[in-house]
Amino acid sequence: MSNPSLLILPGDGIGPEVMAEVKRVIDWFGDKRGLAFDVSEDLVGGAAYDAHGTPLTDETMAKAQEVDAVLLGAVGGPKYDNLDFSVKPERGLLRLRKEMDLFSNLRPAQCFDALADFSSLKREVVAGLDIVIVRELTSGIYFGEPRGIIKEGNERVGINTQRYTESEIDRVARSAFELARKRGNKVCSMEKANVMESGILWREVVQKVHDEDYPDVELSHMYADAGAMQLCRWPKQFDVIVTDNLFGDLLSDAAAMLTGSLGMLPSASLGAPMANGRPKALYEPVHGSAPDIAGQGKANPIACILSFAMALRYSFDQGDEAKRIETAVEKVLADGLRTADLIGEEGVEPVSTRQMGDAILAALDASL
Ligand code: NAD
Ligand code: IPM
Ligand code: MN
Repeated sequence: MSNPSLLILPGDGIGPEVMAEVKRVIDWFGDKRGLAFDVSEDLVGGAAYDAHGTPLTDETMAKAQEVDAVLLGAVGGPKYDNLDFSVKPERGLLRLRKEMDLFSNLRPAQCFDALADFSSLKREVVAGLDIVIVRELTSGIYFGEPRGIIKEGNERVGINTQRYTESEIDRVARSAFELARKRGNKVCSMEKANVMESGILWREVVQKVHDEDYPDVELSHMYADAGAMQLCRWPKQFDVIVTDNLFGDLLSDAAAMLTGSLGMLPSASLGAPMANGRPKALYEPVHGSAPDIAGQGKANPIACILSFAMALRYSFDQGDEAKRIETAVEKVLADGLRTADLIGEEGVEPVSTRQMGDAILAALDASL
């Protein structure tokens, strides 16, 4: 049987820097665990724009549709800020999500014990935290029509449309309930049914899916603004949060700070099962291209490495090997290794992206 296939899209800014460490982890699994992948690599975002005048070529899109999983670094950067909207780096990522139909974006926020004092919240609020935000990823205000900037009288109007069909809500709700059954069996759905019709429909459909097919899972509903507050007040009340595309974007960045740094948060974007039974999937850190630190060897590679661990778990049925990576990360953090984003005022010397990669590989070796 041929090896499972991976398409690597490092992207822009710190994307290639953190992905370089992931590639070493992938090689480690080939060498030491007999888990080899057929890896190909291509351009996305600004890097693709520079080479081809588009943030994602049709060829790369076609490859992404064929492989077993895609790993993406990050896209974007100030160099591309003034490009026409249609060719901005972010459009490449959005096209991948839309055309692969990756409707369910799992964004776990887990607080490693070694970082509990580093969170901007108190230790007792975040210690032991383990929640997942399930963000709807292919619809809502990111994609709704009409959209654009139009002229109205003497001024311009910017327009975006929040839009959800019942089936779009239904499928992401199911993915959240399925996930909850494998975890704490609790789902909190967040919308703004008090002010938005799409929120009313969201709440109704989530409740219906629950009542018909998942009555064993504990379900609650919360307005998303109150949810943001509760996420900071007492995040451990949650297990799985299911929410729309835009609220999920905001809530997951907020959740990042519970774990200490945006450089810690991985994600899995999953679609329907392919012919081989694996879900269509793209794995990427929650963070962006971090232009402020790009090119300096300072970026934290953990979010991207943990995204590969999610690929092992969700695409390749290798939950134990995923755990091996997570335990290795836990160990290097417990040993006191910190990239610059994980250091406050206490004056610990930061390690580089490469040194963090070295330490994680050494911890993987030690796990054998
Ligand atoms: P960002 O996530 O790139 O950076 C926010 C802050 O977090 C910065 O101070 C950065 O240095 C820090 N940070 C992020 N990741 C880090 C890491 N791994 N290690 C250490 N520090 C890290 O968000 P931004 O500055 O708002 O956006 C920059 C660009 O990235 C924009 O063009 C944006 O559109 C894009 N972006 C892309 C993605 C993606 O590719 N999935 C996600 C978010 C933002
Ligand atoms: C994310 C990012 C993206 C989003 C951008 C870069 C398109 O912020 O993945 O969280 O808004 O979804
Ligand atoms: Mn975001």
